[in-house]
Amino acid sequence: MQDIQSLFRIPSTPLQKIEDEFLFRHKINLYVKREDLNDPELSGNKLHKLKYNLLKAREDNHETLLTFGGAYSNHIYAVAAAGKRFGFNTIGIIRGEERLPLNPTLKFAKNCGMKIVYMNRSTYRNKTTDQVITQLKEKFERFYLIPEGGTNELALKGCAEIINSLDIHFDTICTACGTGGTIAGLISGLKKGQKAIGFAVLKGAEFLNKDIKKLLGLYNMNCLNNWEIKMDYHFGGYAKFTPELINFMNKFESHANIKVEPVYTTKMFFGIYDMINNHHLPEGSTIIALHTGGLQGLEGLKERKVLP
Ligand SMILES: Cc1ncc(COP(=O)(O)O)c(C=O)c1O
Repeated sequence: MQDIQSLFRIPSTPLQKIEDEFLFRHKINLYVKREDLNDPELSGNKLHKLKYNLLKAREDNHETLLTFGGAYSNHIYAVAAAGKRFGFNTIGIIRGEERLPLNPTLKFAKNCGMKIVYMNRSTYRNKTTDQVITQLKEKFERFYLIPEGGTNELALKGCAEIINSLDIHFDTICTACGTGGTIAGLISGLKKGQKAIGFAVLKGAEFLNKDIKKLLGLYNMNCLNNWEIKMDYHFGGYAKFTPELINFMNKFESHANIKVEPVYTTKMFFGIYDMINNHHLPEGSTIIALHTGGLQGLEGLKERKVLP
């Protein structure tokens, strides 16, 4: 069993500069913060969202972590891996009905020892209510609850540290947004003059503006206005793709030599290039794109024949 403190000793990941004729022409310095390389299993934003939660669970003598996610969730994958590595039992409450054989994400989670429990979609929508939590407590007794996507106050603290690890001057940091926890953490770590842009991967994600403000409110930072969420790069919604997006992904991967996936990071990179093309990012800017990982999901996409 490993010590949770090992997560605090991980060497800083590279800042990789992307050089191409398009960026040169628009006078943009684009760097990718390669958080996809920070850990093979708790990769990307997951490591930052989980580390203080794992510490807190240990401090409070919890033996079991319980969390929620979809069947292909990067978060479920990471919590299962963390449980195995740091000696917690894990319970994954999975949205929807059981489908056999298990997909690669759930197979991995189960092999890590995670107990997989399915929850019908209407109950799942109410998963944060007292009623559903009480039912879970009656069934599983004592557990440390990590919300869907790992987003809570302690996740923000971990994500804010990404900003401190950046040792160059930059104007804007970009990330893909699901629940908004990662960008809220980044915003809370920004210095004067810096800005964060989030790219919503869900359709109808207007809730993000309210949720992010609420999360920032936990640190009395809800009056900040150094951030914005772009709502036009979801490509039809969560885990929805178009040929244009997949074409962009393939081109980006080969010219930048960085592996991405289409659910989160490709939508962000597409959004960044589109904003540059439309002159919505000022000439001379230094932009950092956060690679939030999520590459474990590629196997499931290949299995569903969404990707070749
Ligand atoms: C790879 C990846 N990138 C970005 C995000 C979005 O993070 P958040 O839910 O904190 O907005 C997620 C989801 O957690 C993710 O798995």
